Amino acid sequence: MPSAHATNDWWRTAVIYQVYPRSFADSDGDGVGDLAGVRQRLDALTELGVDAVWLSPFMTSPQRDGGYDVADYCDVDPLFGTLADFDDLLTGAHDRGLRVIVDLVPNHTSSEHPWFAEALAAGPDSPERARYLFREGRGAAGELPPNNWQSVFGGPAWTRITEADGTPGYWYLHLFDSSQPDLDWSNPWVRERFREILRFWLDRGVDGFRVDVAHGMIKADGLPDYTPDPEGGSMGGDALDVPYWAQEGVHEIYRDWRKVLEEYDRERVLIAEAWVNPLSKMAQWVRPDEMHQAFNFGYLETPWRAEALRLVVDESLEAFGAVGAPSTWVLSNHDVIRHPSRLALTPPPPQGEGIGPRSPRHPDELVGLRRGRAATAFMLALPGSAYVYQGEELGLPEVSDLPDAARQDPTFIRTAGEMYGRDGCRVPIPWEAGAPAAGFSTTGVSWLPQPEVWGSYARDAQRGVPGSTLEFYVAALAARREHGLAAGDIEWLETEPAVLAFRNGGLTIVANTGLVPVSLPDGEIVVSSGPAGDGVLPGDTTVWLR
Ligand code: NOJ
Repeated sequence: MPSAHATNDWWRTAVIYQVYPRSFADSDGDGVGDLAGVRQRLDALTELGVDAVWLSPFMTSPQRDGGYDVADYCDVDPLFGTLADFDDLLTGAHDRGLRVIVDLVPNHTSSEHPWFAEALAAGPDSPERARYLFREGRGAAGELPPNNWQSVFGGPAWTRITEADGTPGYWYLHLFDSSQPDLDWSNPWVRERFREILRFWLDRGVDGFRVDVAHGMIKADGLPDYTPDPEGGSMGGDALDVPYWAQEGVHEIYRDWRKVLEEYDRERVLIAEAWVNPLSKMAQWVRPDEMHQAFNFGYLETPWRAEALRLVVDESLEAFGAVGAPSTWVLSNHDVIRHPSRLALTPPPPQGEGIGPRSPRHPDELVGLRRGRAATAFMLALPGSAYVYQGEELGLPEVSDLPDAARQDPTFIRTAGEMYGRDGCRVPIPWEAGAPAAGFSTTGVSWLPQPEVWGSYARDAQRGVPGSTLEFYVAALAARREHGLAAGDIEWLETEPAVLAFRNGGLTIVANTGLVPVSLPDGEIVVSSGPAGDGVLPGDTTVWLR
C-alpha cells in the first residue's frame, strides 16, 4: 500500500482529482451518480495515479444548485446513498492510499435547512432569524430590497418573505439562488455549528475540506450598495472594494478552523475556493495559521499564451511562496468551461457563463484537445499541487449542444436562458464505449444527455491505447512523481517568443503555445502532449525532455 498516510505535508505536492458525484458513476441506474458508484470506480483513479479525491457535495439537499444548497451538513442525500456508503468509500479510498476531501458549504444553507425553516417560523428579531441576513426593505412599505446587490446567478440577491400573519415581511440575502440564504457569520451560534460539522467529518476520517465561497462569508458593515463591473467574472475579480467578497473578517474564521483541524492526527487540510485577485491577496487565505491551499483561479483564467503563462507562474510561486504555502494549479472544474474548449475560444466567455446552441462562437474540438493536452502537460510539470477535474483525463470537451429543456444550472434559470451557465462541463462522463449511457449508468439514464461523441472518449476506448489522452495523463502523472517535479524548483530557459521552457527535477519542459512548429531541443522525450520529435515541436504541444 502506498505510504501516503505516513507522510506529512502530503498536500504540498498532491494531485487532487475532483469528483462531481452526480456525474461520475451511477450504481443504481437512476441517472444520477452516487457514492457507491465512486466506490466501484476507485481503481480507475489509482490507475490514473492521483493522490487524493475531492468530492463535490453529496450531503442532504434539494439539489437546486447541484448540492451546493445543503439541508443537512451531517448526512448523505438519498440520491447519493447513505452515511454507510460514505464510510465504505472512505475506507476503499484509504485502503488504496487515496486521501478524501469533502466539500463544505458554509456561506449559505439550503432554504430547506431546518435552521432556515426555524428562522422563518420564529419571526423578526428572533435569535433564529439572526442566523441569516434578514433585513427590512427600503421604500415606504419596505417593498424595495435592502440594497442593490445582485445574485451571482442573476437577478436580485434579496427575496422578500411572507410573515406568519400573511403580511409581506423582511428580506433575506442570498448571494446565489433564492434557495441558498446566506448565513450571518458574525453570529457565534453559526460559528459553533460549523465547528461541530467540521468535527463530524473529521471524526469519520476525512482528510480535509474544500471550502465553498471561502471569500464571501463576511459582509461589510451596513451592507452598502455595490455595482459590479459587468465584464468581471461573477464570483469576484480585481475589484478591491466589494462589500461581500474578500472582507478581512473571513480570516478569523479560518484561523479558528485551523485549530479545530489541529486537534486531529494526520495532516488534514482546508482548501479555499476564493476568487480573489491579485494572487498576492489570495495568498492571505493560506497564511501559516489559516488554510493550506487555495485554488489558483488566476492560473485557470490565463490564456494559452507564453508571456501570460510565464507571468502567472512567477506571480503564483512568489505569492504563495511568500507565505510558505505551495501554489496550486488548476485548469478545469464544475464551474468553468472545460479547458480544451475554453482554450480554443479567444477570449473565452466570463466565468460562470457556458456555451450553447445560440452562442456566437464555438470551439474547434481538435484544436481544443491538442491545446488542452499541451496546457495540462505544462501544468503538471510545475511545482506544487495540481487539480484534475473528472473527465479531463479523457480529453472531454465542453458539451455545447445541450437543449434548453435539459439545462439545470440556476444561472440558466435565473437569467431566463440569457446565460447558459455551467451544465456543459457537468455531463456524466463516459466509461465504456457502446454501453448504456457510455457506462455511466446501468440503465442508460443520465441526468444530462450525453452527446453522440461520448463513446469515442470513453475510458475503455483509450485505456492502453498509445497516444490517447488517458495514457498521456497516466504517463505525465507517473513522470511527475518519478522526477519529483511537484517538490522541485523551476528555472526558466530563454526561448523564442511563443515558446516557454524551464528546467525542473532534471527535466526540460518545452511548451509551444503558438501555431507554428519550432525546433525541439535535443533530449529523450519522457512525456509528450502530442506528436513531436525529429527535432520538431509542433504548435500547441508540450514535451518533457530528459
Ligand atoms: C461555488 C461552487 O463551486 C458552485 O458550484 C456553487 O454554485 C457556488 N459556489 C454556490 O455554492
